[in-house]
Amino acid sequence: MYYVQEITEKIFWVGGNDRRLERFENMFPIPQGVAYNSYLIMDEKTALIDTVDAAISALYLENVTHVLDGRPLDYLIVNHMEPDHCANIEELVRRYPGVKIVGNKKTFQFIEQFYSFNCQENYHEVREGEELALGERTLQFFFAPMVHWPEVMVTYEQKEKILFSADAFGSFGAHPGTLFSDQVDFEHFYLDEARRYYTNIVGKYGLQVQAALKKLSSLDIRMICSVHGPVWRRNLSYILDKYDRWSRYEPEQRGVVLFYASMYGNTENVMNRIAGKLAEKGVRDMRMYDVSKTHASYIIADAWKYSHLVIGSPTYNMGLYFVMEALLHEMAGLNFQNRKVALVGNYTWACKSVPAMRNLVENMKKMEIIGSPFEVNSSMKAAQEPELDKLVDDIYASLLAEGYRNEAD
Ligand code: FEO
Repeated sequence: MYYVQEITEKIFWVGGNDRRLERFENMFPIPQGVAYNSYLIMDEKTALIDTVDAAISALYLENVTHVLDGRPLDYLIVNHMEPDHCANIEELVRRYPGVKIVGNKKTFQFIEQFYSFNCQENYHEVREGEELALGERTLQFFFAPMVHWPEVMVTYEQKEKILFSADAFGSFGAHPGTLFSDQVDFEHFYLDEARRYYTNIVGKYGLQVQAALKKLSSLDIRMICSVHGPVWRRNLSYILDKYDRWSRYEPEQRGVVLFYASMYGNTENVMNRIAGKLAEKGVRDMRMYDVSKTHASYIIADAWKYSHLVIGSPTYNMGLYFVMEALLHEMAGLNFQNRKVALVGNYTWACKSVPAMRNLVENMKKMEIIGSPFEVNSSMKAAQEPELDKLVDDIYASLLAEGYRNEAD
């Protein structure tokens, strides 16, 4: 049976949740599921904004049919052509042959790349800033290229000042019955997943996000409707500020993320000793991950959140442990930057991991290596304690220099 929610008078959420999918994009674990949001405006003309993933098509089409209540669908706005939002275009055109598909030149190129059905007579191409009158409401289209695909645009509804923002401001996590961010404790329920979504899906395109934020800054926006995650109708500056900071690659918080590869526990031992010594100095904001255990997306999200990283890895096959190498490559691919980094290496007969990590880190922008990398030859020895203490002192000094205030102060 249909399941819809009213956003405002005559605008309805007609999307759905998927709690069965194991990995979003077949890559990112989503233990709390994911929501695919689509919105239907019932004015003198009807307009559907984006569709949903194929996994929830049956309920989705029932939702659309229910809200339309026998009326035709006049417009389908395609803000983003990624298949998790476009799986139902063909069926909608089949059901509503007069529907105009609203998009830009790239939108239609991508429709023809992904699908084989012929709907060219349904195309309604719009230009930057163009308006579309629905009756009481008028939609206006703004292009947001590479946030995070080239065809992306956002749609602004002028009467109620709603921004339909495509993936922007989205989050992993299915709706827990509620729809609006103010109906839940957002920081507790969504923030980590919103950050993980942003950093891993959109994070590479900080410059383009900054350009989009600048373009939209002149609009009076009262509500943000993304295609994933909750709808924002209150305290919009909170999520706008997060996006601004994330896209400038600035840490949200002073603190340390320690992540390591360790085959037999010796590198892990050093990482635990570093964290313990930092804790003794009063540092409380720390996270530690084994890269072979925790999915990279979580580590990347926390690396984006915190100011300092400690990275540890053994040498492997005369290079870097493969899982660590893949993670650092992924971070570089996401344009990760602007952090302070301490390095810990381990080797038994050939010292290769530290130069490999240093090379990967230094190829990222605005990264600063803290102190001297700490290396152990198979396992740490007591004679190395002063050297480790020096690195911990350097990390702590860097934290303080960045404005960290610990509990002892
Ligand atoms: Fe949710 Fe870029 O698609």
